Amino acid sequence: MKGVVLAGGTGSRLFPLTKITNKHLLPIFDKPMIYYPIQTLVDAGIRDILIVTGGRNAGDFLRLLANGKDFGLSHLDYTYQEGEGGIAEALALAEHFADGQKLCVILGDNIIEGSIRDAVEEFRKQPEGARILLKEVPDAERFGVAEIQDGRIINIEEKPANPRSNYAVTGIYMYDATVFQKIRRLVPSKRNELEITDVNNAYIREGTMRFNFLEGWWTDAGTFDSLLRAANLVAATRKAAKEVAV
Ligand code: G1P
Repeated sequence: MKGVVLAGGTGSRLFPLTKITNKHLLPIFDKPMIYYPIQTLVDAGIRDILIVTGGRNAGDFLRLLANGKDFGLSHLDYTYQEGEGGIAEALALAEHFADGQKLCVILGDNIIEGSIRDAVEEFRKQPEGARILLKEVPDAERFGVAEIQDGRIINIEEKPANPRSNYAVTGIYMYDATVFQKIRRLVPSKRNELEITDVNNAYIREGTMRFNFLEGWWTDAGTFDSLLRAANLVAATRKAAKEVAV
């Protein structure tokens, strides 16, 4: 399975922090944000990774990550998203890289405590379709929200005012190669973006969407509050690990 880290966008919710750099290069405790999703993929046994970025500071990713030596990799792929067409549009740029294989896609601002290895293993064995990771949260209205019935997801609503559950769809998605046909059939949403939630709903309608619950904490880092929260969670986890080691 190949991996894709989506690290484009303007990061407008973090302005002026993102005026002169890309959101995914901002620090989370002791590392640039993008280190965390790359490490999540590597820890799940994925070594073939594409970084999708954009904006004015794309060259900085190359300077920072080079060929992925910090992660024990000998190569990284890069591609460039022109404009801000949304997560699904950014993913469409991975078609050539995917070359018919399954993909594990992670948003560049999603940081987790645990591992996705088991879910990735289950998806390796899954003959077709998609698999997403859910997390119970107190503020579901900030996310895509999954409605579950009889152990299956029946619908996902993007940032609903009145969420039908507390299950947020995390920014970790696994897809078979039909994802690119599904993206081609999308129409832009009200905010004029191709929504990843519409891609996921296409798999749900097809009956091939599976899910796991994510263990450990999960946070995005795209707002001032979540950026601070992410740094505090990483710092606390690091400290706890050190105390156990002593
Ligand atoms: C995106 C997705 C949303 C998902 C979230 C996870 O939201 O659209 O469905 O729950 O990532 O981080 P965004 O960060 O673009 O607001």
